[in-house]
Amino acid sequence: MLFDKASVIIKDGIKLSFDYVPDNLVHREAQMKKMAMLFRSVIDYGGSETAFLTGSVGTGKTATTKRFCADMVDYCARSSIPLDYVIVNCRQRSTESGILLQMIRHFDPAFPDRGFSTQEMLRTARNHIQKSGKRFILVLDEVDVLLKKGSIDLVYQISRFNDDGPVKVSLSMILISQEYVLDKLDESSLSSFKRANVVRFNKYTRDELYDIVLERATLALREDSIHDDAIDLIADNSEEYGDARFAIDLLDKSARIAEDRDEGIVTAEDVRAAKAMIYSVISQSKLEQLDKNRLISLLAICRSIKTKGYVSATAVEKTYAVVCEEYNTAARKHTQFWNYVTDLEKHGFIKTSTHKTDDGPGSSAIHISLQDIPSKVLANKIEAMLEMF
Ligand SMILES: Nc1ncnc2c1ncn2[C@@H]1O[C@H](COP(=O)(O)OP(=O)(O)OP(=O)(O)O)[C@@H](O)[C@H]1O
Ligand SMILES: [Mg+2]
Repeated sequence: MLFDKASVIIKDGIKLSFDYVPDNLVHREAQMKKMAMLFRSVIDYGGSETAFLTGSVGTGKTATTKRFCADMVDYCARSSIPLDYVIVNCRQRSTESGILLQMIRHFDPAFPDRGFSTQEMLRTARNHIQKSGKRFILVLDEVDVLLKKGSIDLVYQISRFNDDGPVKVSLSMILISQEYVLDKLDESSLSSFKRANVVRFNKYTRDELYDIVLERATLALREDSIHDDAIDLIADNSEEYGDARFAIDLLDKSARIAEDRDEGIVTAEDVRAAKAMIYSVISQSKLEQLDKNRLISLLAICRSIKTKGYVSATAVEKTYAVVCEEYNTAARKHTQFWNYVTDLEKHGFIKTSTHKTDDGPGSSAIHISLQDIPSKVLANKIEAMLEMF
C-alpha cells in the first residue's frame, strides 16, 4: 500500500542525482577535445601533463573531468596501456595530509591516518605510483581551497614526482577551480605549469541548458512525461546563472512535485512550484504594494496561464474583462490594461516576450509568463486580498 505506489513519472531517479555523470556531456565536446589533445603524450609515451580547468559554478568542470578520466582509462585498457587516476576534492580534504592520504589509500586502503609527516607521505605516494608502473593522473578539484591556505608547495612537490628519484614516473595533474588560480601558481614560479593548458568552461547559454535538461529528462523520466514548455521554463529560469546543476535540480524537484499529482506529466506549473521552493521573488509584501486594478490584471494572468508555460496577451485581456466583472470593477481600455502589465513586469511578477506568428509577414504576438510561483498559489493569494477591497 504505502510502498506500492509505482512512480508514474520518474523512471530512474539516480540519473537526477548531483553526482551522476552521463555518458555524453552535451556542449562540452570542445573541452573534452582539448583535454584529449593535452593528454596525448601521456597516453602515447608516458609523458606528464598539467591542465587547469576553470569556469563558474555548475559549468560541468567536475563532470567533464570524471567523464574524461573514465573514458581515458577505457581507451588505454583496450590498448593495454596502464593508466590510473584519483580525484581528490580539496574542499572535503582540505589539509595537505588529507589529500596525500586519499592518494596513498588508493593504493593501500589500510594506510594509517596519522603518524606520518608530509614528506614521508609524499615519498610513500611516489613509491606507490612507481611500483604500480602505471601512468598516473591526480585530479585536484576545487584546488583554490588548497591554494588559498598557502599550500602551493604541495602542488609543486607532487609535480616534481616526475623528476625526483632514480626511476621515472608519469604523473600528470588536472587542477580545477572556479577562479583563475594560475597566477597564484606563477607567483611561486612553477615553470612546469604552462599557460597554454587552460581549459575554460563558459556559462551555459539558455539553449545549451535546454539541451542538457532535455537529455537528462530522457534518461531519468518515462516517455512523454514532461511537457516541452516545462523544459523551456527550466532553461529560462537557469539562464541567469548558466548553471547546469541549478537546471537539473529544478528538473528533479519539478518531477517530484508532479509525481505527487495524478496526471503523470510534468507541467510548467510544477516548474514554478519547484522554483518557488528554491527561491521566490513574489513575496506577500510585494503583492501588498499593488492596487486593485493591478491585482485583477495579475489574477487574469494566473487564470489564463493555468498549467501552461506562456499565455498570449490577447487571451489574458479577455480573461481580464471577466475578472473585472466578477469584482464589480469597470474594465479599462487596452492601453491602460497594457500599462498594468508593464508595471507587473517592472515589479518582477511576470515576463513578457515577443513571438513570431503565422498571421503574415512581420506579425507577432506578445507572450506573458509567470516565472517562479505556481499560478494556483498566486491566484489564491490574490483572491484573498481582493476580498479586502
Ligand atoms: N554538459 C552537461 N551535460 C549534462 N550534464 C551536465 C553537463 N554539465 C554539467 N552537468 C551536470 O550538472 C551538474 C553540475 O556539474 P559539475 O558538478 O560538473 O559542475 P562544476 O563546474 O564542477 O561546478 P562547481 O564549480 O560548483 O564544482 C552535475 O550534476 C553534472 O552532471
Ligand atoms: Mg565541481
